Amino acid sequence: MPEFLNKLKNIEIAITFRDVILLPGWTEVDPKEVDVKTKATKNYSINVPFISSPMDTVTESEMAIALARQGGLGILHRNCSIKEQVEMAEKVKRAEATIIKDVYTVSPEESIATALKIMKEKSISGLPVVENEKVVGILTGRDVRFADPSLKVKDLMTKNVITAPYGISLEEAKEILHKHRIEKLPLVDEEGRLKGLITVKDILLRGKFPNASRDEEGKLLCGAAVSPFDFERAEKLDKVVDILVIDVAHFHNSKVFSATKKILSNVSADVIVGNIGTYKAAEDVITKLDKVAGLRVGIGSGSICTTTEVTKAGAPTLYATAQAADAVKNYDAKIPVIADGGIRSGGDVALALALGASAVMIGNLFARCKESPGTLVAIGGRYYKQYRGMGSPSAMAKRFSIDRYSGAKEVAEGVEGWVPYKGEVETLVQELKAGLQAAMGYAGARNIQELWEKAKLAALTSLGIQEASPHDVLLPKSTGLE
Ligand code: XMP
Repeated sequence: MPEFLNKLKNIEIAITFRDVILLPGWTEVDPKEVDVKTKATKNYSINVPFISSPMDTVTESEMAIALARQGGLGILHRNCSIKEQVEMAEKVKRAEATIIKDVYTVSPEESIATALKIMKEKSISGLPVVENEKVVGILTGRDVRFADPSLKVKDLMTKNVITAPYGISLEEAKEILHKHRIEKLPLVDEEGRLKGLITVKDILLRGKFPNASRDEEGKLLCGAAVSPFDFERAEKLDKVVDILVIDVAHFHNSKVFSATKKILSNVSADVIVGNIGTYKAAEDVITKLDKVAGLRVGIGSGSICTTTEVTKAGAPTLYATAQAADAVKNYDAKIPVIADGGIRSGGDVALALALGASAVMIGNLFARCKESPGTLVAIGGRYYKQYRGMGSPSAMAKRFSIDRYSGAKEVAEGVEGWVPYKGEVETLVQELKAGLQAAMGYAGARNIQELWEKAKLAALTSLGIQEASPHDVLLPKSTGLE
């Protein structure tokens, strides 16, 4: 057989979301009871399998906080200075905690102006007053509301501070907070040195978001994207976040592998690598790199991607997912696979999970939400949010994440545009979750593990793809009556 002709004859079909359906199976499952808890990385679980993309119109602190509260995970983008990204990460990690261990404090000799500045900058309503590590007072918003800013902290602070021993249970802390009608309880050691802080706000938030993704200290889980070649960024973020994402468009690259080795051996965060698209790439990650905790897969399927259009290279998300998941399974590597790009519904999520993913990464749908950083605009009487690819000309003009794409080639691999405004992340997560649970109900799967085992797919013809959407009906959308 002629060699080149052979390449065509043995061609693989790179199936993706729109090509297939999930076949209904025997079921005893009520969709509402389907458990969608999963692993985002080897060491971190999330309660819904949705991760927001590290893109500058998708994930900054507000999105990361809102999504973690709903049980998902946000990955902070890197199209900014290291300082800005670290500040975003600190905001997420400080949004709530069972016990705050790294407490902001003020000294008694400081001016009220300084105390007010800290409170404003850090968005907090009170500060323990500390001298020689010991708690000598507490300054709250109420103490300083109409105060002369040139006064000293010691002039206005409450001196009889109620404290509790470090190691107290949350229940005991609640009782003390209630008994004394106070908002903040500093925790001290035997010598009265400040060791932590419990606040009413944190206790209330815990009750309000019981499904949130949290670390062992009760803080919201947070991830951040880094370049494999920016060791300083990785090192600084490692001190704050739980998960680092090595963020390049084509991870299966010798220079990227070498640079990632250095990061992997120096950080304590779980490291997700990507993007990859083939069995061989997953196999090389598994056999050549130690300590990888997650695989981000899919090249060219993103809604703003022009990679495949421009270069004709790509590995559609569903195809890439099956490839990577098989490698993980064959090597018994137990590394979660994250299907990234092209997800438009809970049904697409179900397909990705059915082919071995543990979670999905989404840009487009999250960009539509109130909590995304993109600008809200009105076009033709409807609201939209700005959404752009990280390889689009305007995102690359900021240059911080230019090395995600071609770097030297300087060719755009993304577009920018607008997506319809959706409202709050909470609504989107509920819809996606309900769609996923319904799909899993059809497949007869009680949880993601069962979906991996039971799910069967079938391919659609192009006529079938048309039939799979509403047809032969005039929809309000097309009449402008909606
Ligand atoms: P969705 O479909 O959710 O996909 O919008 C988001 C994913 O797309 C990738 N991404 C890009 N890919 N050019 C690309 O080829 C780009 O400019 C670009 N920006 C983001 C990324 O993997 C993201 O998670």
